[in-house]
Amino acid sequence: MAQVKSIKGTHDILPNQTKDWQELEMQVHKTSNLYGYSEIRTPIIETASLFNRGVGEETDIVSKEMYSWEDKDKSIISLRPELTAPVVRSYIQHNLGGQSPLQRLYYIGPSFRRERPQKGRQRQFHQFGVEAIGSANPEQDAEVISLGWDILKSFGIKSLKLKLSSIGSKSCRENFKSELVKYLNPFIPKLSEVSQRRLEKNPLRILDTKNKDEIEIVKSAPKIEQFYTKDDQNYFFSVQKFLNDLEIPFKIDPLLVRGLDYYTQTTFEICSENLGAQDALLGGGRYNGLVGSLGGKDAPAVGFAAGMERVIIAAKNRKKISPKIPTIYAICTNDEAMGILQNSAKQLRSIGYKVICETLRRSMRSQMRDANKSNADYVMIIGDDEFNSRTIQLKDLKNGEQEKVDLEKIISYFKSLTF
Ligand code: HAM
Repeated sequence: MAQVKSIKGTHDILPNQTKDWQELEMQVHKTSNLYGYSEIRTPIIETASLFNRGVGEETDIVSKEMYSWEDKDKSIISLRPELTAPVVRSYIQHNLGGQSPLQRLYYIGPSFRRERPQKGRQRQFHQFGVEAIGSANPEQDAEVISLGWDILKSFGIKSLKLKLSSIGSKSCRENFKSELVKYLNPFIPKLSEVSQRRLEKNPLRILDTKNKDEIEIVKSAPKIEQFYTKDDQNYFFSVQKFLNDLEIPFKIDPLLVRGLDYYTQTTFEICSENLGAQDALLGGGRYNGLVGSLGGKDAPAVGFAAGMERVIIAAKNRKKISPKIPTIYAICTNDEAMGILQNSAKQLRSIGYKVICETLRRSMRSQMRDANKSNADYVMIIGDDEFNSRTIQLKDLKNGEQEKVDLEKIISYFKSLTF
């Protein structure tokens, strides 16, 4: 019969890969908690209009890449393409703003975008991220960036580059947009079809072009900083000052364009050299209008999300951080002794040992081969002799030394060992 395969752009995370995932998740929990952030978990499916209104109808994410369908009750449901809009929905729905003037939230989970798959770009991918809702001050932007930076560093990624920009306030953006369109209009015949469409719907995205000819055109285009108000400018300077105080190096990139509509003021990305074309590990920014536009009481906010697949690729050569757990491989060649062995294994696990029990009833030789393969520190063996004398044979796999220990003394024996 024909095999059923996974869907294009989705990947199994196999047993030899999950250790990296667990370690990354552990760092996200640990570092976020150290900064005072609490975890939030929201559903994978949401009403489609949340993203139409939240992320923006004209964005690629919503207009081209969202998985949506009509449910039996005729409502339109989507697989979430990101988590900022769902977190803000939840913040409003559960009146989290009423519980505390500042909500510091973090999350880990899958997102879905129907993109063309390539290295570091999947249709189901995973994000961790944070959203700080309530503070309008630049130190909050710096804190969020610092938290992202620390998680990536703590996971062992070395070559990080922080790109920073500000897209200013709404009035600044409107003025910039109309000047940009004025500048680009004479170049329309030279623009690609995609950019011609963007010129009408979302001209800022043209700044992000990968087309060589368009890059040349964009070089002489008006720059957003020419349109900053005094407040925009002061705010952006303060963010930079706090990043300097935190000793986080950054580069201002006026061409940094984020593919989501909700941003105001600060935007940023952290990239790594170890990735190909998809080099953004993490992206985020301030979004002061989103809570209000989704029906909540206006609240300023800032956050980021990171692509976990990309983080794991970028950290390929990192030094592993998880401590080694001492491991015992438990072998039994006497069927009657199986229960005794399992009971000893259970007790050893309760004092922190990892114990792998043979359940295939294989020959001594193949069990020993498996023990060596499993990188165990010890094997403990119960055969006929040991069963009759209520003992266990122990072998230290590092030095090959072997000794017999009374069954009753096995726990105190392992308790006395130091690793
Ligand atoms: P985003 O830039 O769309 O922002 O995604 C954040 C990160 O998710 C990217 O930098 C990338 O690492 C990863 N990512 C995005 N699409 C894919 C894909 N198809 N395959 C693999 N990884 C991907 C957001 O999602 C915003 N919600 C971030 C944010 C939070 N802004 C404020 N708060």
